[in-house]
Amino acid sequence: MPMNLILLGPPGAGKGTQAKKLVKRYSIPQISTGDILRSAVKDQSPMGIKAKGFMDSGALVPDEVVVGIVDERLDKSDCVNGFVLDGFPRTVAQANALKAMLAAKGRTLDHVVSISVDKDELLERITGRRTCKACGKGYHVLFDPPRLADKCGECGGELFQRDDDREDTMVKRLDVYDEQTAPLIAYYESESLLRSLPGTGSIDDIFQRIVSIVEGK
Ligand code: AP5
Repeated sequence: MPMNLILLGPPGAGKGTQAKKLVKRYSIPQISTGDILRSAVKDQSPMGIKAKGFMDSGALVPDEVVVGIVDERLDKSDCVNGFVLDGFPRTVAQANALKAMLAAKGRTLDHVVSISVDKDELLERITGRRTCKACGKGYHVLFDPPRLADKCGECGGELFQRDDDREDTMVKRLDVYDEQTAPLIAYYESESLLRSLPGTGSIDDIFQRIVSIVEGK
């Protein structure tokens, strides 16, 4: 049975970390608009050049850009058994666009999992985050450290810190979340799709909370 999920939460809530675990367990793809945009920035594609300024300042990339990305991505064959949307939608306009595009594709959402973490912990998580350049695996210097400093434990790739993970940009990203994305909690509550959980505790404990939700236990 297809599993069509959204992970909702502020920057640093653990959406990417949990999405990767869902990918392994359910063999469905993670669709991270942030990852797709960062890859476009790296390739200096026209979309990447347009997105870079917004991302570096902690602002959202315009809705029409990300809606187009997701619309195309959902048509790929690996989405046939479902998907985990990570970082999309982020505005009410994006949520409305998603609803329309899923209806046009004859699909529906199963769950919107909202992960909450308080601001001090979000700041600590983001400023300590490191990501593998080669395979994308995420680490945290204190909470989930790599075995070898600056090297990925899975593939040996080099670890890097994201450009938008500086403290000043992070504060702006949290404000943007409060203003533009947090209203989606009420939006999906009114659609009877919202399932909320605390995003604190171990990564595995949080994953078990998500599994209980999506498997209806
Ligand atoms: P995006 O890449 O989506 O970033 P984000 O939403 O800000 O989320 P993050 O990736 O920062 O956090 P996360 O929740 O995935 O946390 P993670 O699992 O890494 O967006 C970046 C930018 O792209 C945006 O600012 C915007 O400009 C643009 N963009 C993207 N999508 C867009 C859209 N739809 N519309 C418009 N613009 C868009 O965890 C964080 C750290 O904490 C890691 O180090 C991890 O190891 C650690 N950690 C995780 N879980 C735990 C735990 N339980 N305990 C301790 N540490 C933990």
